[in-house]
Amino acid sequence: MIVVPGPSSQKLGYKIAELLKQKIIPIEFKRFPDGESYIRFEGEVGSKDVALVQTTGPPQDEHLVQLLLMADTAKTLKAKTITAVVPYFAYARQDQRFRLGEAFSVKTIVTLLQTCGVGKILTVNSHNPAVLGTLQVPVEDLSAIPLLAEHFQKRGFDGACSLALGKKGLATAVEADGVLGGGSDYISTQRDRVTGKVMIEEKPLPVKGRDVVIFDDIISSGGTMMKAVAWTRKQNARTVHVACVHPLLVGDAEDKILQCGAESIVGTDSVSSHISVVSVAPLIAEALITRGAKK
Ligand code: R5P
Repeated sequence: MIVVPGPSSQKLGYKIAELLKQKIIPIEFKRFPDGESYIRFEGEVGSKDVALVQTTGPPQDEHLVQLLLMADTAKTLKAKTITAVVPYFAYARQDQRFRLGEAFSVKTIVTLLQTCGVGKILTVNSHNPAVLGTLQVPVEDLSAIPLLAEHFQKRGFDGACSLALGKKGLATAVEADGVLGGGSDYISTQRDRVTGKVMIEEKPLPVKGRDVVIFDDIISSGGTMMKAVAWTRKQNARTVHVACVHPLLVGDAEDKILQCGAESIVGTDSVSSHISVVSVAPLIAEALITRGAKK
């Protein structure tokens, strides 16, 4: 297998290749003065299995175009198979037409990847794996929740209560509880489909006097997590910590969450940030080595 670390995942891509002990093809990349992307493979691909490592955090559109250019180039260079390793899969939240006339964005992105030769997508805690699974390219969705929970366990939070956002998030809380063992529950949410704003429903939580870790897949503007932390605090939790897989941290999201009473915020390196203290590299390397280009 050949690993190609893309412009948005240089550090992570090299880490994965190191764990796999596989050859790397570096990418030369630049942005033209008008904003367009330039990509060049600095080596021969031959008829090898190729793993393109390119997360699609902000700026999402630029990172997606780079990924499409990489995939189509790998195809032209006669790669045997092309796996797109996209730890944070942009547009996955627009996973249906919520309102008449809306784009089904995630489907469009997957179609483009397929056209450019991608035969498999490997991602981490995608927003709706069930929908990704119905699209044209096989998708393997890995979970970094146990790794985040282990991080808190190592910091002495064994026995902490695991919470997640929304009823659908309960599975995430249960997964974290498999490591922390202090019980799990969900914070009830309602989303306004027009404004996109999330409201917290005042559902009581079993957190009085307890250490709590709130898990979520994404922190973008931080609006959802701010409200979740504030409500958990109001329920008299002893301490509240936050764990997210994809720390997009738009603007002052982190400060806003801390101001609502979170003691710490931790993320993974699916998207590089200063809170990315948990690495998804071993998770991805293991998936590539055991299942390779197969689903
Ligand atoms: C929503 O469905 C996700 O799981 C996150 O809760 C959400 O995307 C976070 O967005 P923001 O930080 O902008 O509230």
